[in-house]
Amino acid sequence: MTTGTSTPHDSAELHVTGRARYVDDTPLPAGALHLAFGLSTEASAEITAIDLDAVRAAPGVVAVLEAHDLPFANDVSPAPIPEPLLATGEVHFFGQPIFLVVATSHIAARKAAKLGRISYAPRPALLTLDQAVAAESMFEGGPVIWSRGDTAAALSGATHIAEGTIEIGGQEHFYLEGMAAAALPGDQGMTILCSSQHPTEIQHKVAEAIGLHMHDVRVEMRRMGGGFGGKESQGNHLAVACAVAARLTGRACKMRYDRDDDMVITGKRHDFRIHYKIGADAEGRILGADFLQIARCGWSPDLSLPVCDRAMLHADNAYFIPALRVESHRMRTNTQSNTAYRGFGGPQGMLGIERAMEHLAHVIGIEPAELRRMNYYTAADSAPVQSTHYGQEVEDFILQEITAELEKSSDYAARKAEIAAWNSKNRTLKRGIALSPVKFGISFTLTHLNQAGALVHVYSDGSVQINHGGSEMGQGLHQKCRQVAARVFGVETDVVRITATDTSKVPNTSATAASSGADLNGMAVKVAAQTIRDRIAAYIATREGCDIAEVGFEGGKVRAAGREWPFAEVAGAAYGARVSLSSTGFYATPKITWDRIAGRGRPFYYFAYGAAVTEVVIDTLTGENRILRADILHDAGASLNPALDIGQIEGAYVQGAGWLTTEELVWDGKGRLTTHAPSTYKIPACSDRPRIFNVTLWDQPNREETIFRSKAVGEPPFMHGISTFHALNAACAACGPNWPDLQAPATAEAVLAAVHRAKGEA
Ligand code: MTE
Ligand code: MOS
Repeated sequence: MTTGTSTPHDSAELHVTGRARYVDDTPLPAGALHLAFGLSTEASAEITAIDLDAVRAAPGVVAVLEAHDLPFANDVSPAPIPEPLLATGEVHFFGQPIFLVVATSHIAARKAAKLGRISYAPRPALLTLDQAVAAESMFEGGPVIWSRGDTAAALSGATHIAEGTIEIGGQEHFYLEGMAAAALPGDQGMTILCSSQHPTEIQHKVAEAIGLHMHDVRVEMRRMGGGFGGKESQGNHLAVACAVAARLTGRACKMRYDRDDDMVITGKRHDFRIHYKIGADAEGRILGADFLQIARCGWSPDLSLPVCDRAMLHADNAYFIPALRVESHRMRTNTQSNTAYRGFGGPQGMLGIERAMEHLAHVIGIEPAELRRMNYYTAADSAPVQSTHYGQEVEDFILQEITAELEKSSDYAARKAEIAAWNSKNRTLKRGIALSPVKFGISFTLTHLNQAGALVHVYSDGSVQINHGGSEMGQGLHQKCRQVAARVFGVETDVVRITATDTSKVPNTSATAASSGADLNGMAVKVAAQTIRDRIAAYIATREGCDIAEVGFEGGKVRAAGREWPFAEVAGAAYGARVSLSSTGFYATPKITWDRIAGRGRPFYYFAYGAAVTEVVIDTLTGENRILRADILHDAGASLNPALDIGQIEGAYVQGAGWLTTEELVWDGKGRLTTHAPSTYKIPACSDRPRIFNVTLWDQPNREETIFRSKAVGEPPFMHGISTFHALNAACAACGPNWPDLQAPATAEAVLAAVHRAKGEA
């Protein structure tokens, strides 16, 4: 069995030896040029004059382009509303590209880009949520509201009410490999190398920018050094800039952002403010909840609208809430255009309800995990089947079992009691423990994106090459797809070679996102491989005079009529018999329908589940804190590769914990991002991982017919990081009688403020 086994990532050896090749490592033809953007130093202004004489005169500069020099479209937007590559007469954030420098070296381009003299007539900038709310600066012309039931009536009939506001900070992607692209002009069309989750969109944007058809542009993407959603749309700028410069000069062009520029130019996770009001009856059964989600989208739509939709779709998380109303405000601000980031708005929406649950438990005086269990959706196979606020029936709910199992394995109740006793004896240090569940919807909410293609070749020596529309960013998608093909042909995984994502091999692909990479592409690979296997089986059946159904593929052998041959020998023979050994495969996710305007339907094929228990300790004098232990039980269905899945869960948890603790983005009064390097922006280091870290897979098959009954795993475990936040809040609550009202990120300062609130000293 070649799926379900813990084989290493296909590039593991290349990664650890430093031999894995990224865009910036690729040798370029002689005479290649290098690019840099000149950036805005105002957050909102009219451009009154542009003087680039010093830029043009700088050493090594070959060309300098402004918006009016672009030959065709000046648009890098992933959304229907255009977004200019280079500013046209006005700027909308500090760091917006205004002009493009083409020079003989990376450093020459960067130095020259600093010499532009731009004159501005500044306008009032909307930097903060408060400013944007006051100005009613909203995308989509107004709020989006999805609801079920009469929330106001439900809340007025409630015995217990919790009401509050949580500020949720954004998050820098901090992929280890920064943004990069290269364009290689040919005598017909253009080849692009890029670090992108969405090669087809790069192809599309490049074609429009240089006046070609998509068939003239080939995009090759071997691997990213991390994407995390940040490379879903925002690599467009570099690829388009390279293509324009390559068309102009006839030379290869490469662009990579310096780390500081990368952080200043590109959008991040959306920061949110969520107002919540939740009401329960005397026993703690939730009657209704109302959420106002206010998101800072930045200056252009990018992917903000679907991100905010997903936040709304996760406002229930794991709980059946009879009356639920979610109102979403998508604020337009003069800051970087915020974008996809692991969970795509789901984490923010989920933190809203999870915070409300913690608060409600505090108000009622009930154990938070018990309040959660009491309000879970009904379990799969038990009546009644309940539906979400957007009308999807929750048919596969398994959190009762997962929670019970995790409470046992993490020794939750006993540790909680021990921590309470310990806290009563310790004044300076306080510990906290919390459990949080995850229910995450799997599928793109833009239904047509739920499709994928693959191309599989069997060569006459029996080696297999596969290609699919997904892209590799470290998550192990390629290895999983190799395992799928190996299983279909009954051969070892290393018989299968996977090649770079290439728009000329598999066209019209979706972004590798929404955790759907393996679900979609794995299935397309399976279909393609099965087509070839069926042809080989038909050939063998005819040759051996047996039934097709009797031909088996296993252990590197093909068996029929009581005999067996090595797969390689059969491949050679099939070639000799003129059997086609190449096939495409295609897959479209079944069962999904979604009416975004009405906010109703079945946007998700299924849900992925999991739960986490985290224990922390805080220093009540400084607010400093540590994660002591984390236990996670996560549902990856029948895992395609347990080692890769556990790696995804560990990494996602730590990244989620970083979002809610040390990762703080700070802008100054001019709209300049002041945390633009690792010196000031703190992602978790190895030393910040939980001291005890137990990750276990809930190894039950998906109830839906996904690829070998596995479940998507890329994003859902990110939200286990929420348990860290609750645990910190619980440690603060141990300091006094009041609700600590911890805000995110829970930096040392935020923890200290919450300690003071708990003590009533705020
Ligand atoms: N894991 C690694 N190592 N690097 C990444 O950039 N991105 C995450 C997740 N896991 C990411 C990762 C995000 S945002 C998504 S949507 C999924 O991987 C995408 O891959 P998949 O659909 O193949 O799971
Ligand atoms: Mo992931 S945020 O869907 O790229």
